[in-house]
Amino acid sequence: MKNSTYLIILLALGLVFVSYKWISTASVDCDAAVSAQTSPASSTYEDIMTRTSVRAYSDRTVSGAAVDSLLKAAMAAPTAGNKQPWRFVVVRDRKTLDYIGDNFNSMTMMKQAPLAVVVCGELAATFPDEGVGYWIQDTSAATENLLLAAHAIGLGAVWCGVYPMSDHVKKFSELLHLPEGIVPLNCIAIGYPSVSPSPKNKWNPEYVHYESY
Ligand SMILES: Cc1cc2nc3c(=O)[nH]c(=O)nc-3n(C[C@H](O)[C@H](O)[C@H](O)COP(=O)(O)O)c2cc1C
Repeated sequence: MKNSTYLIILLALGLVFVSYKWISTASVDCDAAVSAQTSPASSTYEDIMTRTSVRAYSDRTVSGAAVDSLLKAAMAAPTAGNKQPWRFVVVRDRKTLDYIGDNFNSMTMMKQAPLAVVVCGELAATFPDEGVGYWIQDTSAATENLLLAAHAIGLGAVWCGVYPMSDHVKKFSELLHLPEGIVPLNCIAIGYPSVSPSPKNKWNPEYVHYESY
């Protein structure tokens, strides 16, 4: 066989090899992309559908790292104009938690909780005038993110409303020494669950309207 024939055979083999490598790499990338689109999304959906309010906790300590994860999730929420008017007070002090549990009928679970996060809004940090009302939506979005993150890492939590009840707002502001213009939206009790309540099925197609009400 001539040298040129050898060369052509060699080049052809090389081409086949390179094509094979390219196709197999592309198919791996494609699989990764498909699983990236489905797996995390389904676990997010699963967490949304299985979260429920938890009002009884074990005495297991919630680590600082876990609290940071919750706060990072809270601050990943969307806000109007990306103003991020949320502020958070992390409460671990037993006396403060017991005080809340003793003084608010709807928050008795605080006496058992090892931790609470009070989600507040700084009114001056969002839009002025009628836009100021966005603080409620912004801090509520953060709250829901925090609740979902808690559920995702095995914690149990419950959102206890403070705002708009003026007596609640006053008591929390005094208790936590909140400066003027910082309004407490809620107090979230957090701990490792000692119960496993079933999530409620709230799906109701009658609440949905298409195109117009
Ligand atoms: C604005 C708001 C205020 C709430 N306040 C309280 C409260 O003070 N005490 C309490 O035990 N649960 C409170 N909850 C929790 C609700 O009772 C609970 O979300 C509702 O019953 C639905 O149950 P689920 O969270 O298990 O889906 C509050 C929830 C929201 C959104």
